[in-house]
Amino acid sequence: MHSQAPDVGVPPLLDALRSGTALLHVALEKRLPFFAPRLDADWYQRVLQAYYGFYRPIEARLHDGGLIPIGFDQALRAKTPTLRNDLNALGLSDEAISALSQCPSLPHLDTPAACLGALYVLEGATLGGQILRREMAQRLALNADNGGAFLNVYGTETGRRWKRFLDYLADVPLAPPRPPAGRGCGALDIQLF
Ligand code: HEM
Repeated sequence: MHSQAPDVGVPPLLDALRSGTALLHVALEKRLPFFAPRLDADWYQRVLQAYYGFYRPIEARLHDGGLIPIGFDQALRAKTPTLRNDLNALGLSDEAISALSQCPSLPHLDTPAACLGALYVLEGATLGGQILRREMAQRLALNADNGGAFLNVYGTETGRRWKRFLDYLADVPLAPPRPPAGRGCGALDIQLF
């Protein structure tokens, strides 16, 4: 993950997203149990259920909101179906999956900029997923067919899709950030034309 120091040569939007989320990423890494010695198959399943409870509503809201700037291939990048397949492979019925708790406090996705911020997080998570995939394969023998597909959701395309996402971010026309007064949402508070 990246430090909060400005990165020379990195587009300002990406730099703002990285520095605005770096500490949150560190906190998240500490909170997630993937490297915990006690992690077992049951715990992994609970983590995946929690992921589902976040991805399902946030992807639905991003999709339904219609505010994502043009050029983002939503259908190709949807991750909820892969999570659902993993949960099925782990033994959950469709009914049980539909009944899983949904995150009630999603980020506000009421502007194109907020959507871009959320997409940065969702797309960037596929990078760390590569490390988690290897760890889960080693420790719990998980693979794409038995509940581990989400951690490798883009497979060999991971690097290329991240690069394409960064190109997309770089191409979105942006106005300078608003002054700090008013609603403060840090790195994501960037206006779009
Ligand atoms: C224990 C769990 C996690 C680990 C070990 C981890 C690890 C990493 C690593 C090593 C990278 C850099 C990869 C690269 O540059 O090739 C990365 C990038 C990133 N991760 Fe994670 N990650 C974890 C969880 C998450 C989660 C759950 C999210 C989102 C909710 C997330 C969001 C991001 C983002 C946005 C980036 C891209 C940073 C950038 O290059 O701009 N990570 N992660």
